[in-house]
Amino acid sequence: MEKTLKAIAINGSPRHGGNTEMLLRKVLEPLAAAGWATDLLQVGGKPIRGCRACYHCFKTKNSRCSQGDAVFDECLEKMVAADAIILGSPTYFSDVSAEMKALIDRAGFVAIANGRLFRRKIGAAVVAVRRGGGTHAFDTMNHLFLISGAIIPGSIYWNLGFGLDKGAVNQDEEAMRNMIDLGQSIAWLGQAIRQNNDAGAPAVPAIS
Ligand SMILES: Cc1cc2nc3c(=O)[nH]c(=O)nc-3n(C[C@H](O)[C@H](O)[C@H](O)COP(=O)(O)O)c2cc1C
Repeated sequence: MEKTLKAIAINGSPRHGGNTEMLLRKVLEPLAAAGWATDLLQVGGKPIRGCRACYHCFKTKNSRCSQGDAVFDECLEKMVAADAIILGSPTYFSDVSAEMKALIDRAGFVAIANGRLFRRKIGAAVVAVRRGGGTHAFDTMNHLFLISGAIIPGSIYWNLGFGLDKGAVNQDEEAMRNMIDLGQSIAWLGQAIRQNNDAGAPAVPAIS
């Protein structure tokens, strides 16, 4: 039986139902329509600390962070299990939210310490922004994917949605088209990777 492809979207905004969440949900629409299992996780507004630089993940190599907090553990577990990871953040002072940065640093380190757990997964970033600094936040999230050996599909523009108040991004018609296109490209890429794997391409070796 064909394996169901999985996409996990992670919302770095503390504002439930806000602009970032709307963008993420829009990306997931074409994926769900294509038969993917989709999930949206909330990290914004939840207790998640930054990396402590203890380097335990490099010593234990047990695919876990030594801090052992439930918010991070759930995110990492779902990121590792997913075929596609979509990170979303509001723009805060031209960068991602603090919660999203904590997740990036810790998940990135654990993944690299354990043979590059995100290697050849699909990675995408989306950003809600009022006016300026959105591409910098976009770059911050893409850096996680790029250093991890993940594959980033492009879309019709930078993956930004404009708006200040909750829901304002819905008026950004171009952003919504962009999110749909992004979801479609992730679905296409996931299918292409699956066909490649089913055709007996050599397994991806772990990298230390
Ligand atoms: C602490 C803070 C810092 C912000 N910094 C910026 C900024 O640098 N540039 C900008 O255009 N918008 C900035 N904003 C506005 C948010 O990025 C914008 O309202 C976004 O749509 C919020 O997304 P959300 O509804 O998912 O929380 C900031 C908002 C907050 C609360």
